[in-house]
Amino acid sequence: MATGTVLALAAFLSVCYTAKPTARSFEIDYEENAFVKEGRLFRVVAGAMHYFQVPHQLWRDRLTKMRAAGVNTLQTYIEWRSHEPENGLFTFSGQSDVVRYIRTAEELGFLVILRLGPYIDAERDMGGLPYWLLATKDELVLRSYNKEYLKYVTRYYEKLFPLIRPLLYKNGGPVIMLQIENEYGSYKACDFKYTAYLRDATRAYMGDDVILHTTDGARDDFMKCGKNDGCYTTVDFGPGADVERAFACQRRHQMRGPLMNSEFYTGWLDLWGQTHSTGATTQIVDRMHQMLNMNASFTLYMFHGGTNSGFDAGAEMLLPPYRPIVTSYDFDSPLNEAGDPTPKYYAIRDVISEYEPLPPIPVPKPGGKMSLSNILVSYVASLRDVINFMSWKSKKSSKPLSFEDMGHAGALMAYETTITARPSDPALLQIPGLRDRGYIYVDDEHRAILSRGDGSYSTLVALRTKQRLTILVENQGRISFGDHIFDRKGIIQDVRIGSTTVTNWTVTPGPFHRTEEFLAWVRTGPVKTAPGKEGFGVYVSNFTLPKSLTLLDTFLRLDGWGKGIAVLNGIILGRYWPEQGPQVTLYVPAVHFLPYPRENVLVLVELQRSPCPQHPSFLCSVRFVKRPELNGTVPDTRGAEAAARFAKNKAFLL
Ligand SMILES: *[C@@H]1O[C@H](CO)[C@@H](O)[C@H](O)[C@H]1NC(C)=O
Repeated sequence: MATGTVLALAAFLSVCYTAKPTARSFEIDYEENAFVKEGRLFRVVAGAMHYFQVPHQLWRDRLTKMRAAGVNTLQTYIEWRSHEPENGLFTFSGQSDVVRYIRTAEELGFLVILRLGPYIDAERDMGGLPYWLLATKDELVLRSYNKEYLKYVTRYYEKLFPLIRPLLYKNGGPVIMLQIENEYGSYKACDFKYTAYLRDATRAYMGDDVILHTTDGARDDFMKCGKNDGCYTTVDFGPGADVERAFACQRRHQMRGPLMNSEFYTGWLDLWGQTHSTGATTQIVDRMHQMLNMNASFTLYMFHGGTNSGFDAGAEMLLPPYRPIVTSYDFDSPLNEAGDPTPKYYAIRDVISEYEPLPPIPVPKPGGKMSLSNILVSYVASLRDVINFMSWKSKKSSKPLSFEDMGHAGALMAYETTITARPSDPALLQIPGLRDRGYIYVDDEHRAILSRGDGSYSTLVALRTKQRLTILVENQGRISFGDHIFDRKGIIQDVRIGSTTVTNWTVTPGPFHRTEEFLAWVRTGPVKTAPGKEGFGVYVSNFTLPKSLTLLDTFLRLDGWGKGIAVLNGIILGRYWPEQGPQVTLYVPAVHFLPYPRENVLVLVELQRSPCPQHPSFLCSVRFVKRPELNGTVPDTRGAEAAARFAKNKAFLL
């Protein structure tokens, strides 16, 4: 921001401020380097928690516990893909009822900072952008001044903004600040025309008297492309950073106004196959004191992380290799994934209490957990059964179609062809456009796995003319952050067998394309075809909980299972992959169970290998346990090194 603009804005604000000192107001005082609320200096001590990562029945519980720690402001992203899951199909109710979420926070005494996106990251699929943007015209360019992209952004804003405006502080609501884009300076485009467009669209609707801000990593090169004239420039950095230096960076780009760290990391994310991340409480506490003594404002990111359930988790690929993000978004945050206060919670509460009044809310304690053993599952469907079931959605095509071409956001897609040319023995199968993991079957027999994460795109396979080749492709999550977020799924380039390009495909979306119908079908026990020895299988358990049982939160533990997707009572708990780690258990809140005498249905779609024989007459047991295991073993020592390297890279980039 140019100095002239700062001074003009400061002058403008102080005029407003002296003109009506008793009015409801939240402003920046550029003289005092502070926020001012109703004429009094105000420090933002915020906690990040996102409605889309917490079951809506638990919003109030988690927010109450956050408030009890003395946090005075809720910071939340608004996620476009949650509100427009399909092109033109909007939802702002139930789990996506962001207005109710904000009102609940307000009732608990929070102010609210909204991060409007449209891009957010948050370790979500495609960084919160809707997948269908990738299905539109090729000339669509994400996060840029691009007509096609902005057409959709504008249409979304037109739905969202009328819901937000009444929530603004000046209109009697709790919303004090609106963030434009997110860490834009870490993105390759550096398109000021784009960020100016977002700013002006927001201003035009929300008014000139609302604080807009940006957030970027505390480094000059990020500030360069991340700052947005007329928006307040804030930084983000974790407890490993030098606080003085990081805020000095903010000062170089925002000469006056409050110091503000919009993401102070309480922990860190986990990637499949890499060592579990943590954030050291002593260091967090030290840095908090330092920031508080500087009168800085900050957000604890995350205060409560929650879960990337369903197919919501994204992936990282700052540089290859591609690395999918785990289902849990525990983040080692003060309130853990199950909403329980941790030692970090109490330490943070103690620090805040030295600077800010604590509200009269009882100090929360961890909640009880339940265990359920001997939940009996049995095999109900093979891959062939599922493909037959979904075949009404199949498309024939000379080229493989992407998930986006097929209008399928989620998990699985089957690509099938009958071998016509005579292949050599063995044949070299090459799938350079594999996104992200391919399970290779020949005449329904499982043969190989190819994997983008391992840079493995080809395999030798024994194939004869007239045999059926099936490639079941798993989308492991669209890239969340960095320059590779345009990440179409499925098979996005030609497939070759030897030197021949395969040109006769039947493409069939997986069962989660129609989750409700699939679950109803599964309950009819549809197994028809003979299963292979290992590989894909659908398993089901119907169980009733004891009458005397008090429903509590618990964790699904799938020892011996390979990799797949777990669904309880129609709720997709998320991806499981205990073989890979570090996440071993899946969090299951009590609200997802049905009490006695109702029947609960657990469905496991196993992609690789189940410990349970593939025959409907066998019963095997799985269990729910009282303790989470997020810190399980990972494949080899490279896991630890890779995790450290990744953390350093991303933190460095932020
Ligand atoms: C913090 O704010 C208080 C109250 O306005 C002031 O007395 C103090 O000097 C400030 N400290 C710093 C480091 O700016």
